[in-house]
Amino acid sequence: MQTLKEALATALPDIAQSLPTTPEKHSTETKATHSPKSSLWPLPAKDDKEARKLWRERLFQMEHHHPDVENLMQWGEWFARRAITNNRPGWVLLEGKPGCGKTRVARRVSRFIRDYAFDAYEQFWQSRGSLPRVEFRDWPAVVEQKGDDYDESIEDLYAADVVILDDVGAEADTYKSGLPISRLRSLLSRLERKAVMITTNVKLSEWEKRDERVGSRLTAANRFSAFGIPDYRPRLKSAP
Ligand SMILES: Nc1ncnc2c1ncn2[C@@H]1O[C@H](COP(=O)(O)OP(=O)(O)OP(=O)(O)O)[C@@H](O)[C@H]1O
Ligand SMILES: [Mg+2]
Repeated sequence: MQTLKEALATALPDIAQSLPTTPEKHSTETKATHSPKSSLWPLPAKDDKEARKLWRERLFQMEHHHPDVENLMQWGEWFARRAITNNRPGWVLLEGKPGCGKTRVARRVSRFIRDYAFDAYEQFWQSRGSLPRVEFRDWPAVVEQKGDDYDESIEDLYAADVVILDDVGAEADTYKSGLPISRLRSLLSRLERKAVMITTNVKLSEWEKRDERVGSRLTAANRFSAFGIPDYRPRLKSAP
């Protein structure tokens, strides 16, 4: 059967010449395998529960499955999906004891969003005119910086679309100056419209005691409490 363009080419050759050729259908799968950067797996359809579960497991590679580990991964997925599609990106607070896998999830989410956005640039981000900026930061290392170094880090965070702050609350206030918490307060108030993921060992009730406004912003986030997950940090074995 003739295509519309072929039919037109016979009848009206000039018009047919100016018509664009049919664009190839976008296939994330082909794109993903062809991209040298990509170790990626396309986001599965929202309603395909089985595919989503497999996707999560491949992305986060959490070998140990306490029942809450699945939920921790689900929140990682929720965040990544929203950040990538720029569809009502929200805040996620992952709280839990040391070694439960918060940083692992946060790091992988960060890498995934960056790589995926790079691969699927045309699909998702064309309208923005630039790739999304993703900043993953170990918060204690940032907040303990001095002067210009701190200011530069903060400018990077303000300029980002997706901000992931790891280990918030583990910072030391060596001089009992209150500086770390006031820095956190002012940072959080300026990140309100961005996609923000925060991991912490500190319980929400403790945050409320430390600072009301920080507590209030963290309360407003989608919160996943992973305190039930055990410590999976591999033990350093002593020499025989
Ligand atoms: N479910 C899991 N399966 C396998 N390994 C895991 C799992 N969760 C965490 N790990 C491993 O345990 C170690 C600690 O994990 P991670 O650093 O993510 O913990 P954390 O919650 O960030 O701890 P902290 O509060 O001390 O920062 C890492 O080596 C991580 O890869
Ligand atoms: Mg951590």
